[in-house]
Amino acid sequence: MAALKFIQVTDVHLISGGRRLYGVSPERRLHAAIDSINQEHSDADFVVFTGDLVHWPDAESYAIFAEAIKRLAMPVKLMVGNHDDPHILAQSIADVQVEPDGFVQHAHQTPAGRCLFLDTRKAGSDAGEYCSRRIAWLNQQLDASDDPVMLFMHHPPLKLGLKGMDEAALLDQDALFAVIEPHLARVRHLFFGHVHRPVFGNWRGMSYSCMRGLNHQVALDLDAPETSVPASFEPPAYGVVLADRDQIVIHMHEFLDRSPRFDLVTPAGDDPNEYSLNMRHGDWDRMN
Ligand SMILES: [Fe+2]
Repeated sequence: MAALKFIQVTDVHLISGGRRLYGVSPERRLHAAIDSINQEHSDADFVVFTGDLVHWPDAESYAIFAEAIKRLAMPVKLMVGNHDDPHILAQSIADVQVEPDGFVQHAHQTPAGRCLFLDTRKAGSDAGEYCSRRIAWLNQQLDASDDPVMLFMHHPPLKLGLKGMDEAALLDQDALFAVIEPHLARVRHLFFGHVHRPVFGNWRGMSYSCMRGLNHQVALDLDAPETSVPASFEPPAYGVVLADRDQIVIHMHEFLDRSPRFDLVTPAGDDPNEYSLNMRHGDWDRMN
């Protein structure tokens, strides 16, 4: 059993009035994710929402978001993205603390290390920033202990080859890295959102990951120009993270998947090939 288990949900883009966004209900998606988390991962230590909690930052949308997350059986960590307004968020959800300079950032000590939830929002922009005041905060946090560190932020600090999204990445990449670099050996992983699709890799020595957005996704189109962000409706997913002081495991869970489950050790039929053929043809009822 891991020292720490948590869930990453990103880019809910909730809107008020039960309306749909690009033909999909973000509110229904959020409730479906919460149902899944409560049923399948009630032992998680927390759920982190890595920004873009709402699509338009009005009090009604945040109120609906606040009501929905009350259903979660575990603590919740909220972060802001480019679609969020920290002050309206804080007015709607009492647990959210906005610092005097307007940032929503905090640290959380766990048995697997320190989780640092960064604020990369740049007011009035889809791109992110990491200014000197936030760098000072991060520097202080990194100096505070010698524990392993997991970083959480909305914007990716690197270009991913998705040209339209790369235009809206974090702007102050070198400045962010400069404060991390002296601590690089114990900065275990970087979790981000914003990109609305699964991306995994390594940035300047740190592994990173991103989960699909909850409502809509960004399509994998590496040829689209920077003036465009091709979108898609791939299955929504959240991350299930198992962390210890020496390792981190991230499972991407497509929680709306209803394909049949079967046991590879004890197949349902005598002929495993026949079983898989039936599955491909969609004759799943017969197998139940
Ligand atoms: Fe988003």
